[in-house]
Amino acid sequence: MNMPEQIPTIQACFETLLLTEIQPGIYLLTINRPKVLNALNTTVLSELAEAAELVDNDSNARVLLITGAGDKSFVAGADITEMSTLTPLEGKAFAERGMAAFRRLEQMKIPVIALVNGYALGGGCELAMSCDFVLASENARFGQPEVSLGITPGFGGSQRLTRLLGRAMAMELLVSGRAMNAQEALQRGLANHVYAQSDLLGEGLALADRISLNSTTAIQMTKQLVQRGQDLDLENGCVMESDLFGLSFATPDRAEGMQAFIENRKPSFV
Ligand code: COA
Repeated sequence: MNMPEQIPTIQACFETLLLTEIQPGIYLLTINRPKVLNALNTTVLSELAEAAELVDNDSNARVLLITGAGDKSFVAGADITEMSTLTPLEGKAFAERGMAAFRRLEQMKIPVIALVNGYALGGGCELAMSCDFVLASENARFGQPEVSLGITPGFGGSQRLTRLLGRAMAMELLVSGRAMNAQEALQRGLANHVYAQSDLLGEGLALADRISLNSTTAIQMTKQLVQRGQDLDLENGCVMESDLFGLSFATPDRAEGMQAFIENRKPSFV
């Protein structure tokens, strides 16, 4: 990926992640284990949860972009070397750590965008599905190959893939272990857009800029509506929507957004 020329501020020191405020309010989180195609070990999983917490606590944060170091892989799965030594109880604890990290990312107040710059296999596909949107490079490959290692998905893959693609296609991918290329992921609704790898970060930033113009409070409420709503029946989902719609009228951003429209100027949200 093409990185901006100016060296941005490093926000925190992690062993396996690079966290950078690449533009005011726009954070870029890079999983940085390129020698093992950014495989997720215990340290990465713990640090992902810490990084999500850190960014979420910054009231100026607007968007989090997540990618993998290098131009070959987003994340090639959970770390097989580490997993090969785990007992059943340690395996369960490993899965719970990954679940907690991905749930923390999913529940962030701000939108989280996966920039999938290559392999997104196993835990990598699960990580991408925990983000709010996926922008993929042309060389991206998505899949859940766990059955080829004699295990099941462990970080939510069987659940999120089924919700995203429907039962039949999720079942096919999960039991065959075959990977989808970027175009198939786009066609099936797993990826929002596919770009040349050299354009991926620029397109991610352009989307982040566009999002940053809007009210963060309204965005936060909208995320809740979509995420909680998908597990509710339509009637209860619509009740939740009218409740949050009403609540949004109590916010300074509602007053500013509507006043700005009436005065034919751009809003300045808090
Ligand atoms: N865990 C640990 N190490 C991994 C890894 C993983 N999930 N994926 C790749 N690596 C390591 C390889 O062991 C290799 O290390 P080495 O250089 O010390 O031998 C290095 O990353 C490069 O991988 P390599 O397999 O040589 O690259 P490739 O281009 O030939 O193949 C993949 C790329 C992604 C197809 C292949 O690495 C692969 O199948 N990885 C495992 C994918 C998987 O099953 N993920 C789900 C895990 S639950």
